[in-house]
Amino acid sequence: MNVADSEIIQGILKAKKYSSIDSMDKADIIFVNTCAIREHAEEKVHSRLGVFSRIKHNNPDVIIGVLGCMAQHLKDDILDTKPYVDIILGPDSYRKLPELLERKMEDKDNIVDTQLSRYEVYDNFFPSRKEGINAWVSIMRGCDKFCTFCIVPFTRGRERSRSINSIVNEVKKAVDEGFIEITLLGQNVNSYKYKTFSFDYLLKEIADISGVERLRYTSPHPEDMTDEVLHVMAHYDNICNAVHFPLQAGSNRILNRMNRTYTRDHFIEKSNRIREILPNCGLSTDVIVGFPGETNSEFEKTLDVMNKVKFDSAFTFKYSPRSGTKAHEYSDQLSEIDKQARLEKVIELQKKHTIIRNKDMIGNIERVLVEKNSKRSTNQWAGRTDSNKWVIFDKENENIKDFVDILITDAKGISLHGHLVKKKEAA
Ligand code: 5AD
Ligand code: SF4
Repeated sequence: MNVADSEIIQGILKAKKYSSIDSMDKADIIFVNTCAIREHAEEKVHSRLGVFSRIKHNNPDVIIGVLGCMAQHLKDDILDTKPYVDIILGPDSYRKLPELLERKMEDKDNIVDTQLSRYEVYDNFFPSRKEGINAWVSIMRGCDKFCTFCIVPFTRGRERSRSINSIVNEVKKAVDEGFIEITLLGQNVNSYKYKTFSFDYLLKEIADISGVERLRYTSPHPEDMTDEVLHVMAHYDNICNAVHFPLQAGSNRILNRMNRTYTRDHFIEKSNRIREILPNCGLSTDVIVGFPGETNSEFEKTLDVMNKVKFDSAFTFKYSPRSGTKAHEYSDQLSEIDKQARLEKVIELQKKHTIIRNKDMIGNIERVLVEKNSKRSTNQWAGRTDSNKWVIFDKENENIKDFVDILITDAKGISLHGHLVKKKEAA
């Protein structure tokens, strides 16, 4: 989401004749686009700001800006403790950047704008994307779900969706620029609603655009995962066979305390439904361990749901208290040691499931999009299946952005290995 927002910011600035450079030491203006989802993300920004403060020391004219969710969350702290920060802008204020920069260049006062908007969707700006394969396309912003652990509804404000037309236009432009994979983005992507149009309709509209070879989306909320969306996914070859399906926890009491609006049984039923309508669908998830008050046996229930669903992959997190959220106020916070121990168990179990799922694919011929050199060797490519699994295979004569058929021969760690069957036409 932040990569997409940074591209929007660059688009806004480039339209006003600003240009980007790679070296911070030579820049006139330095922005950091920040995330506040967990404390760890904020710590990274603090250490980056230390670097900026040294640059400002050597060059007092440089303008330093903190943008995004952390600016929204910690503006007072930044104002009090980081005098070298000139501009603090929340996620709904980027449109004003050129005007605020002009103001900053004229007088020396700090600029703070963290007003959230009910309407801002950056509709009429084209993000400035780096060349590549995948274009992130933001379709809605904000979140109204208020999970009790989550800062997003406070930093990004209320849910609002872009018009179908503006999304279609942006996708067409991205295709013209050479992007062949589109990933639709939203804090709650499947809550998309524009007039009477919902997410399944938008998916069809985008999948029908010629040149969209692969269509993905993230992140959905289990509550809004309808059969209609699954049927559209099943119908279109270019909509990838992968669903991110965030579990968070496996105990009904904890789910309820998290305000997640589904029960473990609901979640398991919907996972089964996904695999029924979309056979071999890649299913990934998010899991939080050590939510306030989570007992050992409640934690075991998370492992139990994982055992029942057997996700292909998981993002696993220790609960991180976020000031301003409801869960931050709960008195029964767990110790770091307990959270760490639970995290290790979840990671261990997921590793086993990933291997089981991936080994099931040995012998399949998978259509893989060639994306980059493999990390291990420049003689090998890394590409993804449409179920979102990385496949490593020896190079022959193919190029990045080619689709190739790969016979899967092995599964190690989180990757599949295989060899080329035959080359398909370049995309
Ligand atoms: N602590 C830990 N993980 C969190 N997430 C969101 N807020 C927190 C938090 N306070 C995780 C959730 C969400 C993912 C994007 O980040 O699992 O799905
Ligand atoms: Fe946060 Fe996602 Fe819950 Fe919204 S639905 S509050 S973004 S975890």
